[in-house]
Amino acid sequence: MFLTDEEKSILDGERGAGYQKAMELIYALGLTFDAEKLIPIKRAHVALSGQEGDTYWCELLVNGGAVCAVPPTTNPYWDTAYLTKFFDVTREELELAERTGDAYRRIGAKLTYHCAPGLGTNVPFFGEHVAFSESSATPYVNGALGARSNRESSVSALAAAVIGKTPLYGYHLDECRRGDFLIDVDADMPECYDWGILGHCVGKIAGSRNPVLRFKNTPRPGQEDFLYFGAEAATSGAVAMYHMVGVTPEAPTLEAAFGGRKIPSAECVITNKELKAEEDSLTPATGEINLVMLGCPHYTYNQLLEVERLFAGRRVNGSTAFWILAEAGAVELAERSHLRQRLELLGVRMVGDTCIDEPCWKSFEGSLGVTDSPKCAYYRERRGQPFAIRRLSVCVEAAVKGRLD
Ligand code: F3S
Repeated sequence: MFLTDEEKSILDGERGAGYQKAMELIYALGLTFDAEKLIPIKRAHVALSGQEGDTYWCELLVNGGAVCAVPPTTNPYWDTAYLTKFFDVTREELELAERTGDAYRRIGAKLTYHCAPGLGTNVPFFGEHVAFSESSATPYVNGALGARSNRESSVSALAAAVIGKTPLYGYHLDECRRGDFLIDVDADMPECYDWGILGHCVGKIAGSRNPVLRFKNTPRPGQEDFLYFGAEAATSGAVAMYHMVGVTPEAPTLEAAFGGRKIPSAECVITNKELKAEEDSLTPATGEINLVMLGCPHYTYNQLLEVERLFAGRRVNGSTAFWILAEAGAVELAERSHLRQRLELLGVRMVGDTCIDEPCWKSFEGSLGVTDSPKCAYYRERRGQPFAIRRLSVCVEAAVKGRLD
């Protein structure tokens, strides 16, 4: 793999141990994937998680003198000031959260704490080379926006942000962005929840291949729809790039989606029946609930408004908590618009900067929760809370009753 004299000097440690570690990782990645050279990136997003491994890596680099050449935006951890008013956490959990914020601040990250950067806090242009971690963000920037990112880890994205470069391989190359196989879709997609279920279905079929979706009736998905589709395709599978014919920017035609390759016949057809079967396989649980959790990925302001509309003045049942995770800017806007105050009167709380996969939520574990996100259910169940998955309107009805029928 070709390195410039400057890149070699960083690898030799001439700029200090922090830059050297970052370059060692990028160089090793490049060698592993047969990259020809490094290329500059314009943007980065780091899936900071507030967990020990990511924090350790950031401290290692910054204590070695590294500062980001390209300031990355960051994923959420949890809002320690707000959530400790409601939940008990241990001193160790609090200290880890504080160490995380401190390390990323010192290395020069933009502390957006938002897991949908492509929607507003860090939006790449078409064709831009970037290094984005966060499983829901990578398919969004590749598929929906036509920017170019590999499936970075928090570790490799931070190394790329420090050096300002990434190895030229994978989704940075035209030949790796083309469609690998075709799926026909003949289904109604009324809500972003349905896009999430479609993504979950597609991810299982695709694995890490690039799916091309050909719709019977060309849809016009909005940003939340793209986000939920990609988040779930990257949860049930490892999809980082997809095409929707006549919809996404690199697929104006079926021929363009396959980049000149022979167009295969459709591997399968997804109709309302397959989506219903997928939903049923994900959502069997019923009974008393102690939590409704929304915002994985983070809710937008429009989604907050939709929650208020569905409540229609009713209140959350006294035995149930209702939490929405959203980008801090959306929470701030809701505060200014008094949407936050109106929702709180109904028993709905919202919080910025926070992920569902954090220790602050542990008091709910052991009882049934409800969410509109298969990704949320997947992560929460690993921490010991079973979750039913339902569309938003059903989540709201369950919150009002305190149970899911
Ligand atoms: Fe965001 Fe955490 Fe879900 S980073 S997508 S809330 S798992």
